This record gives sequence, structure tokens and C-alpha cells, in this order.
Amino acid sequence: MTAQIIDGKQIAADMRAELKAEVAKLKAQHIVPGLGVILVGEDPASQSYVTAKERACDDMGIYSDDNRLAVDISQQQLMSLVEKMNKDPKINGILVQLPLPKGLDESEVLLAIDPAKDVDGFHPVNVGKMVVGEKAFLPCTPHGIIQLLIRNGVTIEGADVVIVGRSNLVGKPLANMLIQKKPNANATVTVCHTRTKDLSSHTKRADILIAAAGRPNTITADMVKEEAVVIDVGINRIEDSTKKRGYRLVGDVDFEAVKEKASLITPVPGGVGPMTITMLLYNTVESAKRAAGIDVSK
Ligand code: GUN
Repeated sequence: MTAQIIDGKQIAADMRAELKAEVAKLKAQHIVPGLGVILVGEDPASQSYVTAKERACDDMGIYSDDNRLAVDISQQQLMSLVEKMNKDPKINGILVQLPLPKGLDESEVLLAIDPAKDVDGFHPVNVGKMVVGEKAFLPCTPHGIIQLLIRNGVTIEGADVVIVGRSNLVGKPLANMLIQKKPNANATVTVCHTRTKDLSSHTKRADILIAAAGRPNTITADMVKEEAVVIDVGINRIEDSTKKRGYRLVGDVDFEAVKEKASLITPVPGGVGPMTITMLLYNTVESAKRAAGIDVSK
């Protein structure tokens, strides 16, 4: 079969329209959600993610406090900036773009962020709450993937989900979210990684296959079950002299071949990527509502 393409751009646009209306309502009550952004160094991919996050805030009417810091900033200077943002009432969410350059202690920085402003959901307090099923900020990429599945009518409950990749940003949190005893979870999850023996014996069983390995062509058509749902989290730059910028983006999945076998598939770009930023905006708005004492317990 030929898969239906999951339009992440459209779903993200729909969600952003809903959020924009919510931000307008909050503004009428003099509540302006604010995001503090910290980017250290000049990694081109990180720069383009951060620029996209800042533009999305502008478009949404969310205040953003943008901080682009030199690669040789000290740990102490970085910690002081996080502390300043923790205390700033205009800032409801703090985003430190990862990875940090070598020499900076990432876990110390993440630990310093006030868990109530941790809109990335990376602080161990939020990770722990998520694992035990308490309300917490959910990490943006896994949360965005689940929204894509829900909004495309994919049944998650009881599904065999295979995740390829065990990163702290995607694989580990997504597996934890999908095994929760909750609606839109209750899946049977297998997490595969670089030490997995016979990867395709696992991927071939997947009703929902999630590729988050960070390597092009990790998933080829022979590794996919007929009619599986395939979510590609990879964003890899491949040299391409026919492009003005000298590269093109590809995912972890051999899209052209796998789309002939899957029932639903995300493209790269235009699949998971736009959802990550949308969920960051969502968490920032949630945080602003909590800070203002508006009930977000649902
Ligand atoms: N680097 C890659 N993805 C992310 C993300 O979702 N949040 C942050 N802070 N850094 C990232």
C-alpha cells in the first residue's frame, strides 16, 4: 500500500491557531506568557532551531528573551543567567538549547532550572513526575509525536510500539509516556538501540515504528511491517550541491521505499519538527496559566 503522509506542518498550524487564541484571551487578562531562550555557541543546526522557536513566539504573541552566548562562556556565567531567569516574573519558561558546547556541564545547568519553568521537561523533577504518571511538563518532541498519532486517529492503546533510539530527549521519555496506564498510552513498548541484536526482528513487529536514531537510512523497507505507522524523528543534513545552501535534510527512514509499505508516515522536513516547537509554546502557555493561578489540573 502507499502510505498517507502525516502533515506535521498542518497539524502544528492548527494547534498554534488554538494556542494563539488562548494567548489573546490571556492578554486580555494582562497575562503575557514569556520564554527565556539560551543558546551557547554557533552550531548551525542549533541556531536554526532557536531562530524558529523565537519566530514562533513572536507570531504567537509570546514574549521571548533571547540570549545568544559565546562558545567560551563560563559555567558560572551560564548558571547566573539561569538563576536570573528563574527569578524573572516575565519568564514562564526557560529553554537552554542542547547540546551545550564541550566543557559546560549540561546536567548541572538543567538541574538549576526552576522545575516550574522547565518547559522542555528535562529537569529530573519533571522526568520523575512523568515516569510515575503525575502531571508534569512533557518533553516537546515525544509529546508532539503523541499528538501527531492522536490527531491522525492512530490507536495507541494495545499497539506494539518499537522505538529505535534511547536518547534522553526522545527515546527514553517517549517510551515512558507510552506505557502509562492512561488514555492515548497503554502501548507495549520496545526500545532498541546501538547494542540491539537483530534490529529488524523488532522493527518488523511494530504497529507503530518510531525512528529516533539520528542516522540516515536506519529504517529500510524490509524492516517495516505492511501497514505500520512510521514516525521519523531524524533530522540529518546530507551534502547536496544542487541545493543553494549545500545540503538537504533527511530523516532516519528511507522515506521513498517505506512509504510504499506503511499506512501512515511522517516526512522530513514537515513531520515531527514543527510539532516540537508547537509543544514548547503549549508548555509555555501552560506555565503562564499556572503562574497566574489559572487551573491547569485537567
Ligand atoms: N536540542 C534538540 N532538541 C531539543 C529540544 O527539544 N530542547 C532543547 N532545549 N534542546 C534541544
